[in-house]
Amino acid sequence: MTIERYDEGVFDSGVGGLSVVRELLRSDPSQSILYLADQFHVPYGGRPLEEIRQFATGISRFLSANSCDAIVMACNVSSATALSIVQKKFPEIPVVGMIDGVSAKVANSGFQKIGVLATQGTVLSEAYPKIITAFKPTLDIYQVACPAFVPLVESGVLEGREVERIIAEYLHPLARKRCEAIILGCTHYPFLLPAIEKVARNLFSSPPVIFNPAESVRAQLSLLRDPAAVRHNEGRHLFLTTGDPSVLEHQLSLFLGKGDWKVGSAEWSGENLRRLAEIAAQPRA
Ligand code: DGL
Repeated sequence: MTIERYDEGVFDSGVGGLSVVRELLRSDPSQSILYLADQFHVPYGGRPLEEIRQFATGISRFLSANSCDAIVMACNVSSATALSIVQKKFPEIPVVGMIDGVSAKVANSGFQKIGVLATQGTVLSEAYPKIITAFKPTLDIYQVACPAFVPLVESGVLEGREVERIIAEYLHPLARKRCEAIILGCTHYPFLLPAIEKVARNLFSSPPVIFNPAESVRAQLSLLRDPAAVRHNEGRHLFLTTGDPSVLEHQLSLFLGKGDWKVGSAEWSGENLRRLAEIAAQPRA
């Protein structure tokens, strides 16, 4: 197997991190990405935080060993529980998480009442309230755990009456508190954004401003990167999953658009990941 280098190694429990990939490629389509979806373990959100730390560490070791120049934890619950651990364990490689950048942005936005939609693990970790109030202690932060969202997005169900009913249930407490801004604190949620905005227009007297942390991640990465550095692989990407590669192939065309995405498998062996055979996706008609 040829060793290829990648500008970024990006990971998530599943397809959520593709909302970050989409944002990264929007700013610079020439970069190359090695993506790892740990779909054998999706969803992460309801799992013990120690287990999530183990997954995040194993995946980061794998991405570092597979010649990535930087790691993007495109997973809020991993960022909430494992970012500093991974940064200490792998000092040779820059690691960017989802939470710090958007927290600084929201704290400086002038809004007082901030809602956070996130998975149970991220809510439990209290990472968003802690980091936002470290920037500005007087802000009011209201968190809502949304366990139904990740299974919906993983199965490609992004709109419809049932989706809107679930969204309304999660937005209600934030509407009652009159939140002025909402952070999408899980990378799966931006794929529900049109439906979230539609429901919010009906529920809030004045619709909240919605923050997607992926935009801040893109800004953080461009600060890290030497603009003169040579790009690897000329915009070719590889998407690996610990689940079923044919499912991921279908999800890629749904979430990133049709393309000849290169898909492959990785497998857990204890606390380590190993790469299995790759299949080249066929361009679709
Ligand atoms: N997309 C991830 C996050 O940002 C994990 C979601 C999950 O698997 O529960 O938190």
